[in-house]
Amino acid sequence: MTCDDDRFSCPKKEGHLFSFLKVTLAKAIFLASMIMTNFLLLLSITLCIVSALSVHAISCPSNSQCVQVGEQCNNLLKICSNSDCKYSGGSTSGNCTAYIPENGSCLQNYDSPSCYPGLSCYDNKCVQYGFIQNGKDCNQTYQCSKGLTCSNSTNKCVLTNDVCDSELLNCPFGTFCNTTGPTKVCYPQLELNDDCTVYPTACPYGSVCSGNDTTKTCTALYSLGLGETCSPNPNDATVSACDASKGLYCEINSAQYGFCTKLPSPSNSSQSCQDDSYCNFNEICECSNGSQGKCSILVNINAQCATDTKSYHDCLIGNQCVQVNNYLNLNSCVASKCSKEFCAVRNSCENWDIVDSLSCPSPNPINSLVCSSNNSSSSGEPSLSSSLSSPIILISLLSIISTLF
Ligand SMILES: *[C@@H]1O[C@H](CO)[C@@H](O)[C@H](O)[C@H]1NC(C)=O
Ligand SMILES: *[C@@H]1O[C@H](CO)[C@@H](O)[C@H](O)[C@H]1NC(C)=O
Ligand SMILES: *[C@@H]1O[C@H](CO)[C@@H](O)[C@H](O)[C@H]1NC(C)=O
Ligand SMILES: *[C@@H]1O[C@H](CO)[C@@H](O)[C@H](O)[C@H]1NC(C)=O
Ligand SMILES: *[C@@H]1O[C@H](CO)[C@@H](O)[C@H](O)[C@H]1NC(C)=O
Ligand SMILES: *[C@@H]1O[C@H](CO)[C@@H](O)[C@H](O)[C@H]1NC(C)=O
Ligand SMILES: *[C@@H]1O[C@H](CO)[C@@H](O)[C@H](O)[C@H]1NC(C)=O
Ligand SMILES: *[C@@H]1O[C@H](CO)[C@@H](O)[C@H](O)[C@H]1NC(C)=O
Ligand SMILES: *[C@@H]1O[C@H](CO)[C@@H](O)[C@H](O)[C@H]1NC(C)=O
Ligand SMILES: *[C@@H]1O[C@H](CO)[C@@H](O)[C@H](O)[C@H]1NC(C)=O
Repeated sequence: MTCDDDRFSCPKKEGHLFSFLKVTLAKAIFLASMIMTNFLLLLSITLCIVSALSVHAISCPSNSQCVQVGEQCNNLLKICSNSDCKYSGGSTSGNCTAYIPENGSCLQNYDSPSCYPGLSCYDNKCVQYGFIQNGKDCNQTYQCSKGLTCSNSTNKCVLTNDVCDSELLNCPFGTFCNTTGPTKVCYPQLELNDDCTVYPTACPYGSVCSGNDTTKTCTALYSLGLGETCSPNPNDATVSACDASKGLYCEINSAQYGFCTKLPSPSNSSQSCQDDSYCNFNEICECSNGSQGKCSILVNINAQCATDTKSYHDCLIGNQCVQVNNYLNLNSCVASKCSKEFCAVRNSCENWDIVDSLSCPSPNPINSLVCSSNNSSSSGEPSLSSSLSSPIILISLLSIISTLF
């Protein structure tokens, strides 16, 4: 379904959009946290989602619609197509405003229109930002991931002021930001089965820091069976120590730990829902088809997702890629080396058709990896984007990230 004009009302779009973002952003961020956490981003985005959710109860039917450049918008019921909802002076509604193109001038100011997706405002210019990891060649500081500077002498991205930040992915591949000493220094990552209780961000790709309240170890992905103790991953249930190929995920039991639990069977599709609370935790109440909502699976926890996630991690390791801020820029290590694996995860762990049906048209981010849905003929092969095309919520994701950079 498209909702490019007012003939279509797109019910509940914002609720869905944000509940989807909750899952997807969290996923992107969690994958990132396999090396080091990116709390700053997580925090900001969580705040954004929470505030959006708190003002907009998710329930069917709803009358959200997509609006065009020049029209009034409010990010809740009137969502801008291919443009940015620009608010000014504390107003509760804004105007849909065209994105600023690459190299266009911008202000680092929330009242200012946003840079085109995939760009960020740096020194008052919209630029491709944050796609080079520590230790790799650069020409400009803005190309380096946040917290890094492009060294004049070596033309490589290096730590700004020699200090790492555990909230940013700014240590070289294979290291993590050790914050226990007087200064924050990049140290070699832990190994599988090492104690990570005080270093939750130190486990290598292919593992997660998992255990109980008092003791956690770097645990191989998908290695635990039914009933075993695990650390729930609030950000992404598909990246876990529990054996996803057996349909297991880590269900929370206390604030700190949980048990590997069997995924409930899918909600009965002939029964309607009014909001997400009627659905399983990996489903959303989707009512783009009218007033009767239907629980639809958004996140898959199955053998294919587990296999693809492991392959993705293997690719990151094999190519020594760090999932930097703007890892979808085609010049990043991830997008240039692991695009196939990344998109395979997208396709097997997430249900993009649902997402597409719930989003207003958005441009693909500039010079960025865009995964095609496996429903389309190209079956999960990544494609390169440089033009306006199909709606993908990732764009919202990137524009949120870019305003934070
Ligand atoms: C939106 O545009 C109208 C007309 O151009 C203008 O009067 C109004 O102040 C604008 N609102 C915002 C929030 O920019
Ligand atoms: C933006 O500026 C950079 C550096 O000056 C240049 O390489 C690039 O081609 C420009 N991009 C566009 C779209 O003009
Ligand atoms: C840096 O500039 C050189 C020369 O213009 C170019 O070949 C190279 O691709 C640039 N590197 C990056 C990371 O922009
Ligand atoms: C890099 O070069 C610029 C301009 O030449 C200079 O202003 C800046 O201080 C230099 N930075 C470092 C870290 O050497
Ligand atoms: C973290 O840094 C401290 C020193 O500040 C060091 O003693 C400790 O071994 C480091 N931990 C790891 C896991 O590297
Ligand atoms: C936590 O796990 C460790 C290692 O498996 C175990 O020795 C300890 O008894 C557990 N503690 C609690 C409170 O369950
Ligand atoms: C699903 O719901 C319908 C209507 O309430 C009911 O007839 C059917 O038995 C249910 N199916 C399952 C598998 O529970
Ligand atoms: C939408 O609803 C109509 C009838 O209400 C139904 O025939 C159609 O299959 C539904 N489409 C989807 C995609 O659920
Ligand atoms: C996409 O393909 C994966 C396997 O590659 C499959 O598990 C998943 O169900 C497919 N999704 C859709 C919507 O067809
Ligand atoms: C694939 O997309 C078409 C139209 O875009 C839709 O009708 C069909 O249900 C989708 N198939 C799956 C498996 O999602």
